[in-house]
Amino acid sequence: MTDDVLAVHGGTPLQGQIRVRGAKNLVSKAMVATLLGDTPSRLFDVPRIRDVEVVTGLLELHGVKVTRGDDDGELVFDPANVESASTDEINVHAGSSRIPILFCGPLLHRLGHAFIPDLGGCHIGPRPIDFHIQALRQFGAIVDKLPDGMHLTAPNGLHGTKLELPYPSVGATEQVLLTAVMAEGVTELRNAAVEPEIIDLICILQKMGAIITVHTDRVIEIHGVKRLRGYTHKPIPDRIEAASWAAAALATRGEIEVLGAGQADMMTFLNVFRSVGGEFEITDARVGREGVSAQEGGIRFWHPGGELNAVALETDVHPGFMTDWQQPLVVALTQARGLSIVHETVYEQRLGYTDALNSMGATIQVYRDCLGGTPCRFGRRNFKHSAVIAGPSKLHAADLVIPDLRAGFSHLIAALAAEGTSRVYGVDLINRGYEDFETKLAQLGARVERP
Ligand code: EPU
Repeated sequence: MTDDVLAVHGGTPLQGQIRVRGAKNLVSKAMVATLLGDTPSRLFDVPRIRDVEVVTGLLELHGVKVTRGDDDGELVFDPANVESASTDEINVHAGSSRIPILFCGPLLHRLGHAFIPDLGGCHIGPRPIDFHIQALRQFGAIVDKLPDGMHLTAPNGLHGTKLELPYPSVGATEQVLLTAVMAEGVTELRNAAVEPEIIDLICILQKMGAIITVHTDRVIEIHGVKRLRGYTHKPIPDRIEAASWAAAALATRGEIEVLGAGQADMMTFLNVFRSVGGEFEITDARVGREGVSAQEGGIRFWHPGGELNAVALETDVHPGFMTDWQQPLVVALTQARGLSIVHETVYEQRLGYTDALNSMGATIQVYRDCLGGTPCRFGRRNFKHSAVIAGPSKLHAADLVIPDLRAGFSHLIAALAAEGTSRVYGVDLINRGYEDFETKLAQLGARVERP
C-alpha cells in the first residue's frame, strides 16, 4: 500500500492541455467483438489502461493474437486460432474487471462453451448479472453457476429471441448484441441502453457484417448472420475522462483543454457545466483555420472567476447525465454557492465517497429519499442515493483512500483543490480507466509526487 500513494500539494489551478483517447467503455467491448470475426481486426486510439490489459490477457488465453500496430495506440487482433482456455488460467483474471461477462456469446459461437471467472470492477453496489443470465438462457444457453465461476454451453446452438430488459443496462444490452449478431434468426431487444458507446459498438458490428436496426423507444432488432469478418475502427473519445478533467479545471479554478473530446456525446454534461458557472469552448472549430489538425481539436474548459452556482441534477441512462460524471462534478459543486442536489438513479450505492470530501471540509449530506426529481427504483429501499451539497466550502488537505475508479479521481480533484498536502492512497486503481494520469497531472502543472 505504501508505494501506491500520491502526495498531492493542493491549491494550484490546473492549466494546460491533455488528450483523451478511445472510450474505456467502448474499447474493451470492441476488443471482445474481435472474437466474432474470421479475419483480423484493427482498433485505433486504444488507451494504455488496466482494463485493456485484462481483456488482452483473456483474448490471448483464448488464442487471439494481439499485437501493436504501426500507429501509436493501434492494436491488431488475429482470431484465426481461437481455442479453449483452462479454467485455472482464466481464473487468474478473476475479480479484475466486469468485461469477462461479455465473452459469453462470442465464446459460445466460436467454441460451443465458455467459462467466465468471478467478476471484478468497481465496488459501487451489488452489480448483479441477472439480466445477462436471463438473456443468455433465452438465446438457448445453459448457464451453470458453480463455485469456481460460470460455465456455459449451447448444445442446440443460439437462437434469436424477444427480450425486454427490466432496466436499460449497458452491459446487458452489449451482451445481447454480441450474442444475437450470430444467433440463428431475429432478436428483438426492448428497453435497450443506447449510450454512445453502445451505438459505436453497433457501428463496429455493422462493419463486421452484422445487421442491426436501432428503432425509436429503445428497441433494437438484430438479424443473425452466419459469419462476421474483422473490422477497422477508431473509437469514440472517452467522455467520462473528458468530463473528469473538466471538473478538475472547475474545482481548481483552472483551465484545461481536453484534446480529442467530442461535443455531441457530452451535451448533457456541457449544459450542467455551464449552469454551474463553468465556461467551455469547442476548439475543433479552430481546425484548418489556425493550421491545427483535426486530431488536435477538443473542448477547452475553464473557471471564469467569481462564484459558481448550485444546481439540482439527476444521473440517468443516456441521454441523461451519466452516473460516471457525478463524482468528479460533486467536487466542483462543493465550491458553488447554495445547496446543490444530486439524485443518483443508476447505482444505489455511489455516494459513499462523499464521506472523504466531508473529512476535507465539504458539507454533504446523503439521504435515502429521491430528492429533487422524479422517484427512482431506489426510493424507499433504504439506499442513500441522494446528496445535498452546501457550499462554498474551503477544502483542506487530508489522508484519503481511494474506494473505486471514479470516486478515486474525485478524491484526487479534491486534493488538488484543497489547501495543503494530502496523501491519496490506492491511486493505482485510477490506472484502470485514466491513461497516464500522473503524466497528465504533471502537464497541467499539478504538484504531485510519489513520496
Ligand atoms: N443491473 C442489474 N442486473 C444486471 C445488470 C445491471 O440489476 O444484470 C443494474 C445495475 O446494478 C445498475 C444498473 O443496472 O444499477 C445499470 O448497470 P449497467 O449494466 O448499465 O452497468 P454496467 O454495464 O455494469 C457500464 C459501465 C459503467 C457505467 C455504467 C452505466 C463498463 C465496463 N462499465 O457498467 O462504468 O457506470 O455502464 O453507464 O462499460 C466506470 O467506467 O467506472 C463504470 C462503472
